[in-house]
Amino acid sequence: MALDAALHVFRAIGEETRLRIMVLLIRGELTVSEITAILGQSQPRVSRHLKILADAGLAERHREGAWMFYRAASGGDAGGEDDDDAARRAVVEAAAALAASGDRLLARDGERFEQTRLARAAQAAAYFEENAQEWNRLRSLHLPEQDIEARILSLADDRQMSLFIDMGTGTGRMLEIFAGHYAAAIGYDLSHEMLSIARANLDRAGITTAQVRHGDILALPLENGAADCVCLHQVLHFLVDPGAAVMEAARLLKKGGALIISDFAPHELEFLREEHAHRRLGFSDTEVEGWCEASGLKLDKVETLSPASGETQKLTVKIWRCLA
Ligand SMILES: C[S@@+](CC[C@H](N)C(=O)[O-])C[C@H]1O[C@@H](n2cnc3c(N)ncnc32)[C@H](O)[C@@H]1O
Repeated sequence: MALDAALHVFRAIGEETRLRIMVLLIRGELTVSEITAILGQSQPRVSRHLKILADAGLAERHREGAWMFYRAASGGDAGGEDDDDAARRAVVEAAAALAASGDRLLARDGERFEQTRLARAAQAAAYFEENAQEWNRLRSLHLPEQDIEARILSLADDRQMSLFIDMGTGTGRMLEIFAGHYAAAIGYDLSHEMLSIARANLDRAGITTAQVRHGDILALPLENGAADCVCLHQVLHFLVDPGAAVMEAARLLKKGGALIISDFAPHELEFLREEHAHRRLGFSDTEVEGWCEASGLKLDKVETLSPASGETQKLTVKIWRCLA
């Protein structure tokens, strides 16, 4: 059995395009159409290769609305040792070594992978630059807003914070509602338009303990363990790699500090991708818990806020509290 199982895995990877795809998936999660664009091959062909990789347990997939996401399988580290786990691990290790090898074709795939990510991020950034003035109205279109802010604050447990960080602060709303709980706060955002509105909002509210800065939430210029509380409010569904933002938040937290994430539960409003730059259609508790575990955080509380009945375009909102 062990020989058959290993052969199944090695046959699946023993083809140039599939090996290239595997190296791409080691770099990060991608949709079928992104992989198609990177490789310059037809979608049916790429889908066939992906199916072979998935059937051999080398790739994991999940469908979300019209998009299918693929990533390299994490199997093997989870403890259970099947006959083919060793073969899969060997393939994943070989693909990781190839990704770093400097091979010309793989390096070009790697450049296209980065360009794809940058293009996705640029699309979302353009959306925020265009819609900054409208953001407060747009946000309330899909959120049952009345309760959310109170629930978010209650999850902060009245903790007094020396430093509160709002990642992807937008118009600075979280800095406003947390004011009074922190001695100092910084909101980071990549959109200059959003930041100038946030500054005006803080001025208008007379909040002098918070400031906003231009910065990428995946790499913030702050020391490890600098913050008592970090907030990611309605940000993760725009990101190519939400787990990386959770990892960065975890890095910033003091021991015992809290990360508060508010985002959508899984939903099917596909038009939010086209019209509002969403990449992900919400997140399950399991997915959030996985990011927490990978970042050394413990998911400690989950709140679910459903829209009032009859509200067809409003979405269920989740708030997850994760402790460092
Ligand atoms: C949907 S808005 C949410 C804003 C705010 N948290 C709120 O709830 O009103 C998402 C914000 O994240 C920002 N953003 C997205 N990716 C970012 C990144 N990598 N670094 C910093 N800000 C980012 C966008 O510019 C945008 O202002």
